[in-house]
Amino acid sequence: MKALPLLLGAATAVVAAVATAQAGPTAVPDAELQFGVCVSCHGAHGEGRPELGAPRVGDLEAAYIESRLEGFREAGAIGNTDDPTAQPMRAIAQGLTDAQIAGLAAFITGLDPELKSPGPPVEVGTAAWAPCAACHGADARGVPATGAPDLLYQHPDYLALQLQKYRDGVRGGPGASPHAAAMAAMAQGLDDAAIDQLVGHVAALRPPRPPVANPPVTVSEAEGLAAFADIYAVATHPRCMNCHPDGDTPYQTDDSLPHAMGVTRTSPLQGLHCSTCHAPSGVGGGQTPLPPADAIWSMPPQAMVFQHRTPAQLCAQLLDPEVNGGRGLTGLTEHVEHDHLLITSWHSGREAPPLTHAELVARFETWGAAGGPCPE
Ligand code: HEC
Ligand code: HEC
Ligand code: HEC
Ligand code: HEC
Repeated sequence: MKALPLLLGAATAVVAAVATAQAGPTAVPDAELQFGVCVSCHGAHGEGRPELGAPRVGDLEAAYIESRLEGFREAGAIGNTDDPTAQPMRAIAQGLTDAQIAGLAAFITGLDPELKSPGPPVEVGTAAWAPCAACHGADARGVPATGAPDLLYQHPDYLALQLQKYRDGVRGGPGASPHAAAMAAMAQGLDDAAIDQLVGHVAALRPPRPPVANPPVTVSEAEGLAAFADIYAVATHPRCMNCHPDGDTPYQTDDSLPHAMGVTRTSPLQGLHCSTCHAPSGVGGGQTPLPPADAIWSMPPQAMVFQHRTPAQLCAQLLDPEVNGGRGLTGLTEHVEHDHLLITSWHSGREAPPLTHAELVARFETWGAAGGPCPE
């Protein structure tokens, strides 16, 4: 929950920026506002979006984040410039000054992704981790003194791709930093099967998720089911469903039409960022038909689908720790109470969901106090 004050801080900064814009000169954007460009791919808690190939960054040390951003900016520093999966980062890093990189690194390292990434099932690898442990630690959580980053909750596909890049000279090639060159040396001679085993081993090092602490059961199942019926009505309302689609295309307007201009979940990979249009602006006061304004407007992970879900399916999905990252009923209620994106649903100048925000929070509390019962 460390992220919350920071993100609420961002919301406050947005309000301040909007107020300043209306008053005259635009406020200088700070690291929190700049993170609005990163959030579609790296997530509001820095938890990453595997569907976009974007790694988890909220666990990383500030010095490592800085060195990586500098590396993306100065193409030679990470070796070969012909690296398609690094192009989106290259394009973004070109525009960053040293001071902005330092500010972003300090902000990102303060995020707390907890276990929020929907984790892939753990596979057991048998490969020898021992040589890697010297720098990354026996637990794969990284050793700052060696410059070796935390790998533990990183998506296996991302780790495998990076190991292939080091091996093939795409990362850590000529002109690379000493750290990247040292890592590239470690990857020489690894074939794809060895890489898969190493990556499987890292996933197997993850400790089991701690049991979710749900609130004590104090209300009847019938009351819980009635509360869930109201939650379902809100979740499937356009204000919520438009951002939680079944697929990659977000929806617009009260008729839930596919988003204009071909905007999809993957548009940021082509440089079309949600924050380009959904940025806070003094113009029009955020009223329709301008886009709803929020500095860190982005889509949820692909698995958090509200569209086309029956009440029973949505209920099971909300309780699934693989989707909610182990949030549990208490964490879901906290999300609904504090998440600023969700709260924008009542302030975009469009038709409001069928409950007030306070009523929605109360329904989540009642559903939780009934133990989270699901309809048949
Ligand atoms: C369009 C999607 C996208 C956006 C937007 C984006 N990133 Fe990335 N980021 C990626 C991808 C993809 C990678 C992995 C690149 C690779 O394979 O080398 C990455 C890698 C990184 C890494 C390296 C992580 C590691 O474990 O080595 C850092 C740090 C990072 N991004 C920070 C940022 C910051 C800060 C911003 C905003 C200023 C940002 N990113 C915006 C997609 C994105
Ligand atoms: C000599 C110390 C050292 C050893 C040994 C080492 N690493 Fe690394 N590793 C690093 C450093 C330093 C980096 C960051 C380099 C950079 O900036 O590109 C890194 C980066 C990585 C990354 C990229 C992480 C990311 O977020 O992008 C992966 C994956 C990785 N190492 C896996 C391994 C594996 C698997 C082994 C064992 C075969 C291993 N490392 C052994 C020092 C080491
Ligand atoms: C601008 C896009 C956007 C809108 C609008 C939006 N959400 Fe979300 N929602 C997200 C993002 C991004 C996440 C993931 C953030 C996280 O995990 O903390 C999320 C996550 C959630 C979760 C957590 C689900 C889980 O499985 O953990 C719930 C519950 C939720 N939203 C409910 C709502 C409701 C109810 C509304 C309407 C009142 C709404 N959202 C409107 C973007 C949006
Ligand atoms: C080129 C500008 C532009 C970009 C880029 C953009 N949007 Fe939009 N978006 C709009 C406009 C304009 C609207 C308002 C449409 C209306 O309601 O009349 C809108 C509305 C929305 C809505 C509907 C909100 C509601 O309450 O009904 C969602 C959801 C949305 N955008 C998601 C996204 C996401 C996610 C991204 C990034 C992947 C994104 N948009 C990128 C212009 C943009």
